[in-house]
Amino acid sequence: MQTAGNNAILALRRFFLLARRHCSVSAQTASAGSQTNATQPPPPSKSGEAKMRGWQLHNYGGIEELQLSDKLRIPQIRSSNECLVRVRTTAVNPIDLAMLRGYGAAVLNKMRCQPGDGIEFPLTLGREFCGELVQKGMGVPADTLPLGTRVWGVVPVQASAGAHAEYVAVPSYCLAPAPKELDDSEAASVLYAGLTAWSGLYITGGLGGPCGAVTADGGGAHKRVLVLGGSGGVGSLAIQMLKSQKVQVLATCSENATEMVRNLGADLVVDYNNSEAMEELCKYAPYDIVLDCSGQGGEKAAESKFDFRQYITFSSPLLANIDKQGLGLGALKNVFDLVQTNIRSVSQRGGLVKWGFFSPAPQGIQFLKKLVEQRKLMPQIDSSYGFGDLPQAFEKMKGGHLRGKIVVKL
Ligand SMILES: NC(=O)c1ccc[n+]([C@@H]2O[C@H](COP(=O)([O-])OP(=O)(O)OC[C@H]3O[C@@H](n4cnc5c(N)ncnc54)[C@H](OP(=O)(O)O)[C@@H]3O)[C@@H](O)[C@H]2O)c1
Repeated sequence: MQTAGNNAILALRRFFLLARRHCSVSAQTASAGSQTNATQPPPPSKSGEAKMRGWQLHNYGGIEELQLSDKLRIPQIRSSNECLVRVRTTAVNPIDLAMLRGYGAAVLNKMRCQPGDGIEFPLTLGREFCGELVQKGMGVPADTLPLGTRVWGVVPVQASAGAHAEYVAVPSYCLAPAPKELDDSEAASVLYAGLTAWSGLYITGGLGGPCGAVTADGGGAHKRVLVLGGSGGVGSLAIQMLKSQKVQVLATCSENATEMVRNLGADLVVDYNNSEAMEELCKYAPYDIVLDCSGQGGEKAAESKFDFRQYITFSSPLLANIDKQGLGLGALKNVFDLVQTNIRSVSQRGGLVKWGFFSPAPQGIQFLKKLVEQRKLMPQIDSSYGFGDLPQAFEKMKGGHLRGKIVVKL
């Protein structure tokens, strides 16, 4: 089982490396031949030293594990393709709360650590940001990303130094100039949820055909998509993305969010607590895609009353199974769960269940930027917190019932 586990780790590492390489073709091409790590010395923090403020975890657990320090080392640029950003705004996502509790530790920690180096902590959470580009490797093109550019970006899930800090270092394919149509808070609240919705629809769901997955062209006109959980961070962006592509969109949410979701452009909005209204969804079935942004998971797909061709859920048991059972058994359990769920969904609802994931794809960032510039996509902000109040932002996330995103200003 040990060997199976090691093979699974190697396979996962290889998968993420390949995905990273695939996503960073343009950045890598620009950096070919470059050896030097950085073009500028590390910037000083507000206190004048090369230290920064940031929130860290030294143990998994509750929100009380978040610790603010003003003596953190500013992250180092480690390759010619990396960028250092002074963070102005960041956001709290469900994955931050889950990672605080140890979610994904088995896989993510294996990916973080070099062989033989088992250091897991400290961890800084935070998967997205808006800020200023202050340092970059020599392979990062000066024309598209000059120093001082106001950028928006995401932090890959396996990175141990996230955006809940004054500075964050990420590969250049993870960021881009921020659209001027958005203020700093809005710009910090689009990419993580937006790239999750984009990847679910265009990579996992193939909504725009092969081109939709590898370009920023989107697609899917005249298809019909049901968004479960249209009021949250992912759902509220998914509805706007789909409407911009002339997709027919139906959405579910709580009664008190129906007006908000209708204003996002959904053609029909249904209160998921109203069973009569939910029956109405059967009239429009089969759906080309049911996009589960409500945390229900694939097991619920077969129980739904309506047919679909694909049911894409962002709440897969993939990492949780490995956390519980280890890499070998966990991987087997994942295959078993997916096959079992699909046997039920195909026989009862006629369609497949797929697991969707956030993907830091540059073409997805470009797609979202285009929609913002065309004023077809505007993030919904649920609430905003100061940097010192980050634990309150986590409490808000824990309380659920969000109407858009939680942002944090530095
Ligand atoms: N796999 C990935 O890579 C990935 C990435 C991002 C997010 N996710 C997951 O995707 C889900 C959505 O993320 P998010 O950031 O949008 O979360 P969120 O902001 O908390 O949104 C969830 C929304 O769903 C609503 N909701 C809850 N139960 C519902 C139901 N039965 N039917 C319809 N709506 C319901 C909630 O409001 P009410 O409770 O008031 O109805 C809330 O507005 C989360 O489960 C998250 O963990 C996965």
